[in-house]
Amino acid sequence: MRQAFDVIAPRYDLVSSLMTLGMGDHWRRAAAEAADVSACSSVLDAFTGTGDLALMLADRVASGGEVIGVDFSPAMIDRARLKAAARGRRCRFEVADVLDLPFEDDRFDAVTASGGLRSLDDPSAAVREMARVARPGGRIVVLEINPPRHLRGIHHRVLEFAMPAVGGLLGGDPAAFGELARSVGNMPPPAEVAAMLSHCGITDIHWREFAGGMAVLHRGRVAAA
Ligand SMILES: C[S@@+](CC[C@H](N)C(=O)[O-])C[C@H]1O[C@@H](n2cnc3c(N)ncnc32)[C@H](O)[C@@H]1O
Repeated sequence: MRQAFDVIAPRYDLVSSLMTLGMGDHWRRAAAEAADVSACSSVLDAFTGTGDLALMLADRVASGGEVIGVDFSPAMIDRARLKAAARGRRCRFEVADVLDLPFEDDRFDAVTASGGLRSLDDPSAAVREMARVARPGGRIVVLEINPPRHLRGIHHRVLEFAMPAVGGLLGGDPAAFGELARSVGNMPPPAEVAAMLSHCGITDIHWREFAGGMAVLHRGRVAAA
């Protein structure tokens, strides 16, 4: 899977806009707001990809705080670093596996994840690791895209057939783009995601749907020890 994301990286922003019908940045902004950060917060963006959510978080955090984005794809991290430099944002990007984060317990005030859980065999393993590095009471925010509720079958078929073709036209690897499309729809319904978060020690869970369920934003807090 890591290699598939390395292959996709040069065209990821364009493909992500197509998959979210141009609404991805609106949903990411809502995720940044849900993280509830202040000027001196310490924030981790897991599965950061090309860094868009991390950079939105960096807009909300001043020099007393920090924003770190991690992703296991070096090609994605290279792009995130270029974006941060071009925009003059203070944001650190590191190559790391979210299943084994290189940070001590309770380090962050908030941990966000946009679009990463659905590609994992066991998303709860990543949530447990995100909760480990967040302080008790710290925010956990999860944004995922899903097929829209009433068009699940059609949406899935369109993505599954269109994405490899689009990937090929863009000069990428059709199989890698097909893999990305197939992962949409892997996430269970919002109530089941909330139950999974709760099993991982997250409390005070709320969710919000966008565009008929095409995106779902969960937020909660790490239970106090
Ligand atoms: C669909 S992209 C989402 C990127 C970005 N957060 C966004 O909102 O567009 C998923 C990202 O998760 C990364 N990823 C998947 N599994 C991972 C893991 N175990 N550890 C770190 N990154 C991972 C991939 O490399 C990819 O960049």
